[in-house]
Amino acid sequence: MEITTKQLKKMWLEFFQNKGHKLIKNSSLIPDNDASVLFTTAGMHPLVPYLLGEPHPSGKKLCNVQRCVRTNDILEVGDNTHCTFFEMLGNWSLGAYFKEEAIKNSFEFLTSPKYLNFPIDRIAVTVFEGNEIAPKDEESYNLWKTCGIKPENIFYENAEHNWWAVGPTGPCGPDTEMFYITDKPPCSDHCSPSCDCGRYVEIWNNVFMQYVVKTEGGEAEPLSQKNVDTGMGLERTVSKLNGYSSVFEIDTFKPIINYISTHSKLKYNESELATKNIRIIADHMRSSTFIMGDENGISPSNTGQGYVLRRLIRRSVNSSKTIGLDKDELINIVKLYIEEYQEDYPILVSRTDFILTELQKEINKFNNTINAGLKELNKITLNLQEKVIDGKSAFRLYDTFGFPIELTCEIAAERGFKVDTEGYLKAYREHQELSKSKSDQTFKGGLSGTGEKETKYHTCTHLLLASLREMFGDHIFQRGSNITPERMRFDFNFERKLTDDEKKQLEDKVNLYINQALPVTREVMPIEEARNSGALGIFDSKYGDTVSVYTIGNVSKEICGGPHVTNTKVLGKFKILKEESSSSGVRRIKAVLIDE
Ligand code: SER
Repeated sequence: MEITTKQLKKMWLEFFQNKGHKLIKNSSLIPDNDASVLFTTAGMHPLVPYLLGEPHPSGKKLCNVQRCVRTNDILEVGDNTHCTFFEMLGNWSLGAYFKEEAIKNSFEFLTSPKYLNFPIDRIAVTVFEGNEIAPKDEESYNLWKTCGIKPENIFYENAEHNWWAVGPTGPCGPDTEMFYITDKPPCSDHCSPSCDCGRYVEIWNNVFMQYVVKTEGGEAEPLSQKNVDTGMGLERTVSKLNGYSSVFEIDTFKPIINYISTHSKLKYNESELATKNIRIIADHMRSSTFIMGDENGISPSNTGQGYVLRRLIRRSVNSSKTIGLDKDELINIVKLYIEEYQEDYPILVSRTDFILTELQKEINKFNNTINAGLKELNKITLNLQEKVIDGKSAFRLYDTFGFPIELTCEIAAERGFKVDTEGYLKAYREHQELSKSKSDQTFKGGLSGTGEKETKYHTCTHLLLASLREMFGDHIFQRGSNITPERMRFDFNFERKLTDDEKKQLEDKVNLYINQALPVTREVMPIEEARNSGALGIFDSKYGDTVSVYTIGNVSKEICGGPHVTNTKVLGKFKILKEESSSSGVRRIKAVLIDE
C-alpha cells in the first residue's frame, strides 16, 4: 500500500514526541530577520541562537516539519531527486543528548517495523574522516556497527561531504548521513555515497553541531553546548519507501504530473525532454506557490527573493512552450497545489488571490516577449562564427525580452552555445549607470540581493526614526519605508506638516550621528528578550521567535532584518528632498545620502 507524505510527517512527529521532543512551528520560508540568506534552507535556520546556547522556550529536545527552498541545484531539477522546494523533517537536541542517542534514534526510525521498516541492508551511512578541527568520528562508526549496519555500508568521508554549516558563519560540525541503497549496481570498485552515480540516495543527515565560526573566514571553535541537528528529506524518503525511482511519483506530485501530461502535447515519459520539462514545471510551480503564499510572501522582481521567483516562473513558461502546454495552465497547477496543501498550510488559502494575481501578471509579462525573444535568440545564433553569444546581445534579451540571464544561458547551452556572462554584466552595469534607476548589485554573487547604497539607506532609516522620536516624542513610530539605490522614503505617524526649521533640525541631527562614527552592531535574540531590552519593533506580525536587533551607538535599537553598515561614518551626507502627507495622520519623508 502506498505510503503518503502526510503519513510520514505524522510518523516522524509521533516518533520524536514519544521520545520527549516538543513540536515547534514551521517558520516562514522568507526569513525577514536574517539578511545572510534569501530563503529558509533547513529546519535549523530559525534555531541558530538556541544552538549557540540561548535557552529555547520549548526545552532542549525539539522536532518539526519545516518548508524549505534551495535553488543552488536548480539546474538539476528534472532528474530523479532534486526539488527547489521541499519539506524537511527535523529534530534537535540542544545540548540534551549527543551521538549515541541520535544514531540509535535514527536507526530505530529507519528500520523498526513500527516505523519505516527499511531492510538494514538497504541503508548505507557516512561518517567524518577527521581533519585539523575535529577527529576521525570512530564513535559514530562504532555506534552504527553496533546497531547492525555492515562495515561495507559504512563509509568515512572528508569535510567536503561530511561537515555541515548553514553558511560562512554560525554553528557547524561533522555529520553522519544516511542513504538508501537502490538497485543500481556500484559504478566502480570505489563506488560510495559521495560519487553521485545514483546508487545511493541521501535521505537523512545528523549534524553534530559542536563548533561555531564567529567571523567570516574564521576558524571553527568548540561550542560549550554539544547539539544534534537532524534533517530528513520528506519527498525523497517517501519515494524510497514506496520503491519509486523518482520523487515525482509520490502523492504530492502525481496528480500534478498527470494534470500537466493530460494538457500538454508532449507526454510524460514520452521522451527525456518531455519528462524533464514536465518535472520542472511541477517543481517550480510548487516553489512559486509557497514563495508567494508565505506569510512574508513576495512578488516577482529583479532583486533578491523576487528575482529567484521570477526565474522559477519564467523557466516554467519556457518549459510549457517546450512541451506544448498552454501557459495559462500554470494557474490551474498552482490551484491544485493550494488545494493539496491547504490543510498543513492554510496560509496558502488566505493568500490565494495574491498568488494567482501575481502569477498571472508575471506569466503575461513574460509571455508578451518570449516568442519575440526566442526569435531574437535564433537570429543571434544564426550569424555566429564562434559558439558564444556576446554580452550585449544577452543583455538585450534581458532588457527587451525579459529573459533572466540564467535562462538565456540554459537555452543557449541546449543549442550548444555559450554566453559571455562577463560581457553581459558589463552591459548591465553600463545600462544601470546610464539610467541610474536600479542597483548594479543585483547579480553580485549570483542571486544575492542588497547593494551597498541600499544598505546605507537601511541604516539611515534607523537614525531618522531615532531623531524624529527625540524631536517629537516616543509616540512616533515607523509606518513604512521604501528604499532604492537612489533614495529612501520613510513614513511615520505625525499629524501635521513639518516646518522648514524642523526639517533643518532633523537633517542636522541625522548628520550629527553620521559624523559621530557610531558603531552598528547586530545581536540575535528571542523576541521577548528584544522587546524587554527596549528594542523598537514595527511590523510585529512578521517576526518569528528569534529576531535580529541592530544597535547604533546609544542612539537607536531596533528589531530589523538588515542589512546594515557597520559604522555610521560611511553614510555620507543626509538631505531631505521632500516632506509630504502619505495618508491621514502619516507623513512621508523622501531623502538622499550624498557621497562626500
Ligand atoms: N541542517 C542539516 C541539513 O540541512 C540537517 O538538517 O542537512
